[in-house]
Amino acid sequence: MPSLPVVSRIDELRSLLDERRASGRRIGVVPTMGALHAGHVSLLRAARESCDVVVATIFVNPTQFAPGDDFEKYPRPFERDLDLCVGAGTDLVFAPDAATMYPPGSQTVVSVPELARPWEGARRPTHFAGVTTVVLKLLNLVQPHVAFFGQKDYQQQLLIRRMCRDLDVRTRIETCATVREPDGLALSSRNVYLSAEERRAALVLSRALRTATE
Ligand code: PAF
Repeated sequence: MPSLPVVSRIDELRSLLDERRASGRRIGVVPTMGALHAGHVSLLRAARESCDVVVATIFVNPTQFAPGDDFEKYPRPFERDLDLCVGAGTDLVFAPDAATMYPPGSQTVVSVPELARPWEGARRPTHFAGVTTVVLKLLNLVQPHVAFFGQKDYQQQLLIRRMCRDLDVRTRIETCATVREPDGLALSSRNVYLSAEERRAALVLSRALRTATE
């Protein structure tokens, strides 16, 4: 396997990317929480096709988990993630720790309140402010030309688009198609939590979407 630079410090990330930006290279970022699957790989490949430099970020962001959520048990197969990044042609991985992203005293939160209220937000009232805050921080750190997100997280990408529009962020947001198992289940890092019965039941979502489309 070719070696892949993995940086955890902000100064290192900035100096590596500043050089490339200064030489006119187009930078693409795929923000992730790790536990990568073929959906993430498709985002990295889309970035590879349209950008000169592909950055993956791997950070299990504590602020988007509520107390009692699965933050502790969220899968963290870091070495496997790096192999998938290499296979998808990633140039650089940024994998900070929580103290780097949220140093003591951090208090600013970015929220998109109306879009965060319905749907998933109705069940997870603090989730999306955690997402938009960390995504804005990652965009500020990487300063990419393009950022890639999955359509599976439909509400998330809507919020991120609105945040970038409202706050004049220059990064273009690219939304890529959901990748599914052959039987229709959307790929998700959390599918590993499903029992056989829950996994069967979950197929109702793709079936309902297909029926609605037809
Ligand atoms: O979609 C995810 O994996 C996360 O919500 C994101 C965008 C990486 C922010 O932590």
